[in-house]
Amino acid sequence: MKVLLLGKGGQVGWELQRSLAPLGELVALDFDSTDFHADFSRPDQLAETVLKVRPDVIVNAAAHTAVDKAESEPELARKLNATSPGVVAEAAQQIGALMVHYSTDYVFDGSGDKPWKEDDATGPLSVYGRTKLEGEQLVAQHCARHLIFRTSWVYAARGGNFAKTMLRLARERDRLTVIDDQFGAPTGAELLADVTAHAIRDTLRDPGKVGLYHLVAGGETTWHGYARFVLEQAQAAGVELKAGPGAVDPVPTSAFPTPAARPNNSRLNTAKLQTTFGLVLPRWQAGVARMLRETL
Ligand SMILES: NC(=O)c1ccc[n+]([C@@H]2O[C@H](COP(=O)([O-])OP(=O)(O)OC[C@H]3O[C@@H](n4cnc5c(N)ncnc54)[C@H](OP(=O)(O)O)[C@@H]3O)[C@@H](O)[C@H]2O)c1
Repeated sequence: MKVLLLGKGGQVGWELQRSLAPLGELVALDFDSTDFHADFSRPDQLAETVLKVRPDVIVNAAAHTAVDKAESEPELARKLNATSPGVVAEAAQQIGALMVHYSTDYVFDGSGDKPWKEDDATGPLSVYGRTKLEGEQLVAQHCARHLIFRTSWVYAARGGNFAKTMLRLARERDRLTVIDDQFGAPTGAELLADVTAHAIRDTLRDPGKVGLYHLVAGGETTWHGYARFVLEQAQAAGVELKAGPGAVDPVPTSAFPTPAARPNNSRLNTAKLQTTFGLVLPRWQAGVARMLRETL
């Protein structure tokens, strides 16, 4: 089996390089790859890449993920998040490939307090959310054999992340203020990559499993709860902090105005994914604790 991975250098793309490798021959590309064109700001070149590589499976982890920046560059965000995934999906359909794509909790308006289901009404609040919604619609429309995973609050051990920022601030300052009215589940790029590999194998055996799924770690928290957990773990590991977990003050979203509006309710219901693929999604604390043990 041949797998084409697009966006290999991102948080999820990096972990996919590991989890997709055992499936067969892996062709992993980034926007500056030289063997094949994989720059999502040039949608016109992507079909040629797919037709030349002729993979059995395409996994797209490339995206415009700078949520605030997207507000001032909506055309580029649309190319990366919608137009290009649509072009890749058309080419995937042409060669009969299975296409895997990622979307986001930001397709919802964040109202209420119930975990969103796959068929709930969408209502994105930002350019990022709107372009990601258009992207998932184009992929589903153009490529019958698709798996689309909506996820949230992605972190990885590699590169910067929210936990590392909290640790740095807690070493520098006496008190921290963190948002406590946005609810979601921090989800590790490792978990996303491992579930993706499992779902690909399962869907190739049982094509009826194609479709849209919510994929996040179990449980829920706020950014405030997430920050406290990180500092508790750090203290337990003997890290010296100026601001401990008790010195994290909760504040509403309005305390940190940003160009892009964020949904308050980012909870995603994962029952469909767990039932269809026979998986149990671990609680968010397990993945965050593991990532901290790797990085502390
Ligand atoms: N991060 C989150 O919290 C989050 C939440 C919900 C859903 N998601 C979705 O999950 C998926 C993976 O996200 P992630 O967290 O891994 O994001 P990420 O770390 O920002 O990775 C995105 C990848 O796209 C690449 N890219 C940027 N411009 C490109 C271009 N013109 N052509 C081709 N590739 C380009 C980036 O390359 P460079 O790094 O070199 O720029 C990077 O490798 C995305 O679909 C995202 O929308 C993410």
